[in-house]
Amino acid sequence: MKTKGKGVWGRGTKLGLPVVFLACIVFFLAGLFGSMLLSQDISGVQMRPRLLESVEEKIEYNPMPHGETGETSISSVPFQVLSWKPRALYFPKFATAEQCQSIIKMAKSNLRPSTLVLRKGETVANTKGIRTSSGTFMSASQDKTGILDIIEQKIARVTMIPKNHGEAFNILHYEIGQRYISHYDAFNPAEYGAPKSQRIASFLLYLSDVKEGGETMFPCENDFLDFNYDPEKCIGLKVKPRQGDGLLFYSLFPNGTIDPTSIHGSCPVIEGGKWVATKWIRDQEQEE
Ligand SMILES: *[C@@H]1O[C@H](CO)[C@@H](O)[C@H](O)[C@H]1NC(C)=O
Repeated sequence: MKTKGKGVWGRGTKLGLPVVFLACIVFFLAGLFGSMLLSQDISGVQMRPRLLESVEEKIEYNPMPHGETGETSISSVPFQVLSWKPRALYFPKFATAEQCQSIIKMAKSNLRPSTLVLRKGETVANTKGIRTSSGTFMSASQDKTGILDIIEQKIARVTMIPKNHGEAFNILHYEIGQRYISHYDAFNPAEYGAPKSQRIASFLLYLSDVKEGGETMFPCENDFLDFNYDPEKCIGLKVKPRQGDGLLFYSLFPNGTIDPTSIHGSCPVIEGGKWVATKWIRDQEQEE
């Protein structure tokens, strides 16, 4: 038994060299073949999206006959759904760098410390520090360059809410350390009394990049409804400002009640500065 056992190993070592040699060649060839297959597969995967894109580019759409207020051509605006809770959409490169620069230039000379719509019991003094940015309101009609009008029309198209439902643009500037503690844009009737009109949605157009900080944050995204969190903390879904990009979110559910997850804030700017144009959209038409 002992010798048999030994013999197996003994035979193994004797026959081993050619066997191992053969095995090496077989494995080498298998490996070579396999890697060839694999690399083909990978390049195939890489090809596919490119192919899809080129197919998509070639699709020709035939516009429908349109109504009095409609448009003649078919268009597309790139967007990304950032969240369903709250309903938030990101629009990359919504405005050009030149448009953003020009809006900043117009707003610069009129900046004032930003204010709050005060609740019962709130005063300017006891709400100090909640919103530390400076800003100015500008309507499209005040802008002789026509840029705000173009932006306003584009916002109306992507929200499908007529532009006369929008308040004037609130152009805001946040310097290092400045922020806006989490809040709702919609008015809770229990806190503010029945509002004459309600804010449905907000569209933020980032006019500048921010080196560090200054994100728009949604601390309660995806029903994280823990209202004991530190409202000064920068948590939850964070949207980094990038010049020309747009962010749209809805403050109300489709049934008209306030979406608790639409609470949001502006994280403190850590490095650089933040410029943003905000458009609040209401359920009622606004007077100019
Ligand atoms: C409104 O809609 C939300 C979300 O669908 C729902 O949770 C809420 O109960 C509704 N409220 C009323 C009063 O219908």
